[in-house]
Amino acid sequence: MSNTRLRLGRTQSVPIYRQLYQRLREAMTDGRLPPGKRVPSVRSLASELNLSRGTVELAYQLLVSEGYLLPRGPAGTIVSPHLPDAMGPAPTPDTMAGQAPESDLEPPQPFQLGLPALDAFPHKLWARLSQRRLRAQTSAELNYPPPTGHPALKRALVSYLGVSRGIACQPEQIFITDSYRDTLGLICRALLTPGDRGWFEEPGYVMARERLLGEGMHLTPVSVDGEGVNVEAGYSRDAQARFAVVTPTHQSPTGVTMTLARRQALLAWAKREAAWIIEDDYDSEYRYRGQPVPALKSLDGDERVLYTGTFSKVLFPAIKLAYLVVPRTQIATFQRATRGLGHGSPTLNQAVATDFIEEGHFARHLKRMRALYQMRREHLRQALEHHLGDRIHIDLQAGGMHLLARLPDGADDVTLARQAASAGLGGHALSAWYLSAARQSGLLLSFTNVTDAAHADALAARLAELMT
Ligand SMILES: Cc1ncc(COP(=O)(O)O)c(C=O)c1O
Repeated sequence: MSNTRLRLGRTQSVPIYRQLYQRLREAMTDGRLPPGKRVPSVRSLASELNLSRGTVELAYQLLVSEGYLLPRGPAGTIVSPHLPDAMGPAPTPDTMAGQAPESDLEPPQPFQLGLPALDAFPHKLWARLSQRRLRAQTSAELNYPPPTGHPALKRALVSYLGVSRGIACQPEQIFITDSYRDTLGLICRALLTPGDRGWFEEPGYVMARERLLGEGMHLTPVSVDGEGVNVEAGYSRDAQARFAVVTPTHQSPTGVTMTLARRQALLAWAKREAAWIIEDDYDSEYRYRGQPVPALKSLDGDERVLYTGTFSKVLFPAIKLAYLVVPRTQIATFQRATRGLGHGSPTLNQAVATDFIEEGHFARHLKRMRALYQMRREHLRQALEHHLGDRIHIDLQAGGMHLLARLPDGADDVTLARQAASAGLGGHALSAWYLSAARQSGLLLSFTNVTDAAHADALAARLAELMT
């Protein structure tokens, strides 16, 4: 492989591993690296390009996870005989999550993942609360925000998490961040070192995977079944991992709830190995049947769980507000780690969110959204089953914000998702959420912004057309 072709710019804002990933991907899609061709080993490419092995490994891991490269053990790594989409542009993190590209200030795409119902947000109430706060702004509120977050918001979260998620914590344990991804960055900075190994749900949330790989973590895929992440499989693949990232309430993306037995096994492993569990509780508020399930953190007698939540699903993503609850033993470490980072979310947003919670609007809003989502989910399910019949199978889970429409094994869901994107539809291919080559096929389709039965019907009909 010629060095000049792969010259990488350290001054560019794109990380080196990502530049390498893009160059290799281009070489595969334009035929310079044909299917079946063996690629250089990590060690030899690193020395050829004068890069660290970790950087090359990261680029290779991403290409493997997207189906471009195929690891064959001692026989080396080859270009996959079936490239996912030889002509398509390199997927960016945002399009991979089914979210709108950065430059967009447009309404959400139908099926776009990770969005609450933006048409149903109480804009007027929010504007009134914001105006009240703006008028009363003190000079302290114009100062830099406290790096660990607004104290009033932390107090409001202590009560909310205690009542709704069964978590007993103190305000000092809470760190406010801009987003879940930034929360992961903070955890890496505070507790982990590049090269650390962690369990990652298979399939699992692509944006978290990207962020952790970008921080230099090594991820071991651990399969998910009907009881959540398979802890036994985790032990046998890497018992001494430093951390595990899990979504116990509604596994992302399958929606499965982790059983109590699995939770206990995971906690026992973390205690024994002094490993960290990162609990991503991104949409637990949206449960449509049965009792709410307490957070894994509520069982954390040994202080191994880092609990993460976000306001992007329960309020709106543009607010850029998320939070982390750390074990009591780690407060000082996290306080140190936040120094030198930015100052977090704007004080005004944090203050308005606090009022929204404390004045009872939050609880009312969630109650309304639960009823609305239950109805929207049912509309979409019926419409999909009507138009697509036995070409799909829908696993209806107890909660969540999207449907998983499974496709027959081997179906090319990546191409289908790309065609859907060209037709103006969001959503995402299930197979793209796997790290290893053993993937299942399906479409992840959000129902939160499907406004009524007629809308659901029209969208399902468009999808059906693409599948004929
Ligand atoms: C599995 C999962 N975790 C966390 C989040 C929250 O991320 P953020 O705070 O960046 O919106 C999302 C958003 O879609 C998600 O799907």
